[in-house]
Amino acid sequence: MKTSIFEQSSDILITCAPDLSALTGREINQLSIPIKEILPHGIVVEGTAQTAMYLCMHLRTANKVLFLLKEAKADTPDDLYRIAKKIEWDTLFPNDTYFSIDSFVQNSTIRDTRFANVKCKDAIADYFVTKTGKRPDSGPLRDKVVIFLYWRESDLSIYLDLSGEPISRHGYRINPWKAPMAEPLAAAVVMTTEWDPSTPFINPMCGSGTIAIEAALMGIQKIPGLVRKEYGFQHILGYEQSMFDAIKNLALNEVKSDLPFKIIASDHDQRALDAAKENASLAGVEHLIDFVLSDFQDTPVEPGQAGVVVLNPEYGERLGNEESLELTYKEIGDFFKQKCGGYKGFVFTGNLDLAKFIGLKPKRKIKFYSAKIECRLMQYELYAGTKRVVFKTVE
Ligand SMILES: C[S@@+](CC[C@H](N)C(=O)[O-])C[C@H]1O[C@@H](n2cnc3c(N)ncnc32)[C@H](O)[C@@H]1O
Repeated sequence: MKTSIFEQSSDILITCAPDLSALTGREINQLSIPIKEILPHGIVVEGTAQTAMYLCMHLRTANKVLFLLKEAKADTPDDLYRIAKKIEWDTLFPNDTYFSIDSFVQNSTIRDTRFANVKCKDAIADYFVTKTGKRPDSGPLRDKVVIFLYWRESDLSIYLDLSGEPISRHGYRINPWKAPMAEPLAAAVVMTTEWDPSTPFINPMCGSGTIAIEAALMGIQKIPGLVRKEYGFQHILGYEQSMFDAIKNLALNEVKSDLPFKIIASDHDQRALDAAKENASLAGVEHLIDFVLSDFQDTPVEPGQAGVVVLNPEYGERLGNEESLELTYKEIGDFFKQKCGGYKGFVFTGNLDLAKFIGLKPKRKIKFYSAKIECRLMQYELYAGTKRVVFKTVE
């Protein structure tokens, strides 16, 4: 019998948003997995499906973990069909399961990406019927086996998407409330603040709580794989529950039970706080966060600490009205000056004109994208006590 992909090595492509790739690369380095190549759309490492499982369960900033099955030259849909039909699919999944196909296609012979997906689906179905007399069902759901095609000009790569649902879903956000931040982006924001978990983390305007929850998870070193229960790799032949349990048990040993300071998540809307609490509870971090119903300016900030304050105010693109937001941004500046001395202040916004109303000179402006909107994470150094005079204001 052919060895399963849980024992056989191949290239593994970890996809991530281009603006997060440096952080994803850093996460992979921290797992001591050597990076083979950095591509515009992701990072390549080498390993078995067990390596891919490990990546799926640990990475906070990535989107998908793709295990390479075949690389070939393909110019036409018929080439794709022929190449896909040669893969020994019955060694990868049984004929009584369900599969879906996802793709990135940039090829002049294909006008509609879905046509490439159909060609590949036909090849897999025909392979199974010829070999076993029965074919697995297929459709759009991503909750069983997922296949991914990357086809650019003549370069075709066929992958198994071992994430299933993208790993950008960390498995706790059942209530998104309004305009939530994507979980990988929230994780990237927390990483960029370089927050030391022995100090306070304050998240006024918390909305559905994504930033506060990601901070809590990172603070106690709880990996996404200890929250999320379903992955694509669980539907691949050779997978054993004991492999999943082994990764979980190792990770569980690292989890800290508590943080020295409760994370503060505040919002002036009770419905946002209810969503945040629900999500935090599913992530298993509700006990680490104090949820406060208040205007952001009244958020309790422990004085005399060198913590982090992060706000993600509305910025006019999706929520909020730009004129009334000018006052809100001005008040953020006042809140930083009056209440947050000694802290590092951060504002995540997609509107740089509004950011000027904060009235402080940012130390850093880090570019991110949120739902295709170019945004900045602005960092402000907020000096404590007598150093207050060194606040630099912007005219
Ligand atoms: C863009 S959303 C934050 C989204 C959040 N990062 C998430 O992932 O869900 C902005 C939040 O700020 C809250 N907000 C707006 N003005 C506020 C104010 N003056 N005081 C407190 N919260 C406010 C809104 O209720 C909303 O939940």
